[in-house]
Amino acid sequence: MKFFIRVYGCQMNVYDAEKIQTLLLCNGHECVNSEDDADIVIFYTCNVREKAKSKLLSDIGRINNRKDKIIAIGGCIAQAEGNALFDHDDSIKIVFGPQTYHEIISFINRACNGERVLCLEFLQSKKFNFLPMHSSVKKSEYVTIQEGCNNFCTYCVVPYTRGREYSRPVREVLTEIQKLVDKGAVEIVLVGQNVNSYNGDTDDGKKLNIGQLIELVANIKGIKRLRYLTSNPYDFNRDLMFLHKELQPLLPPFIHIPIQSGSDRILKRMNRGHTRSEYIEMIEEFRDICTNINFSSDFIVGFPGESEEDFLDTLDIVEKIRYSSFFAFKYSRRKNTPAYSMTDQVLDEVKDNRLARLINALSKHQLKFNESCVGTVQKVLFEKCGKQKSQYIGKTQYMQSVIVKSDKNLIGNFVDVRIERGFQNSLFGSIV
Ligand code: 5AD
Ligand code: SF4
Repeated sequence: MKFFIRVYGCQMNVYDAEKIQTLLLCNGHECVNSEDDADIVIFYTCNVREKAKSKLLSDIGRINNRKDKIIAIGGCIAQAEGNALFDHDDSIKIVFGPQTYHEIISFINRACNGERVLCLEFLQSKKFNFLPMHSSVKKSEYVTIQEGCNNFCTYCVVPYTRGREYSRPVREVLTEIQKLVDKGAVEIVLVGQNVNSYNGDTDDGKKLNIGQLIELVANIKGIKRLRYLTSNPYDFNRDLMFLHKELQPLLPPFIHIPIQSGSDRILKRMNRGHTRSEYIEMIEEFRDICTNINFSSDFIVGFPGESEEDFLDTLDIVEKIRYSSFFAFKYSRRKNTPAYSMTDQVLDEVKDNRLARLINALSKHQLKFNESCVGTVQKVLFEKCGKQKSQYIGKTQYMQSVIVKSDKNLIGNFVDVRIERGFQNSLFGSIV
């Protein structure tokens, strides 16, 4: 059968979807480029913000002749909504949670026999044992090393959709990375909801943390860049900070560490488990140890009870930390999370206003940082072609997009690039 997978959300979903694709290919199905050409359409979903579900349903509604197709909904919306999703469209035949996707082939076979399949079990550790290595490996590959979350931030659905924290054993992670590198990957991104809480078993009964794992991965010949995301602010120790200094350029001096809010009152109501000053101290310690390090962060504006004063604390922390890039969101009220029933929800127009002011403040620092790179030489991993002829786009160690012109195909190569111009969202340069 012909299949098409549409992925929404985070890097872990991308990893899951690649595994699903490989399972289908290994079983003789054929991958096509659009919903309309497919017999099986799989939507692999994210449930973090409310808008995602309406987008999903409208995307399903736009598929032509969908009554002749098998539509499957996987991932976090599937886990959260379960059976109720079948009511939205007769063509939805399979609903499966993120801990069950290794069984996709049997779900499809059952759906072909006319069954409506619902599978929302939590079989965490088992899943990874069933996942094949994909045959066409990209230069940059994600490897899930940790999944789930025990933190229960009061706005977040992740602990309910992905379950409790689970770290894959060290050997399993190393074997997967070795295979990817053998097949040509040069950048590995270690992925987890709390990736720096990694606590994986070794064969001899010990536990390794993220820094110890990174040291082992760094020894794998052929790896040129190693990143990890997403980190929480409390599991950084000095050893890991030193690794960022010692293992450059393999381990870039750049980390994504969400703060969400700069107000202690709101951080407490979010159940973030850290204060504003603890976060700032951690960042300062990092900068002392690894002087060229930069940070990005996630922010939520308009969390229930957020006053103008609380919001000003967020703007203030933006000025203190000077992030080099960012993601900023309006608080989205999610059913079954504690913040859903908080009575002091913030008006949407107030959220809009704060989001615009926050993005404005963050953008200034991003632009300043990008401009400060002009004249420097950056190691760039090229990933794709640009819009114009002979243009290539790659990423610096700080995850900035760089555009260069070249007659030679640069895709998949690390190249030294002198940065000539810096804009809000991209840099232009020439090959050294
Ligand atoms: N509303 C808005 N943003 C959210 N995030 C998580 N849950 C919500 C929510 N209910 C954001 C956080 C998190 C990122 C992945 O998504 O900033 O770090
Ligand atoms: Fe969600 Fe908080 Fe866990 Fe991140 S740490 S996944 S925001 S509950």
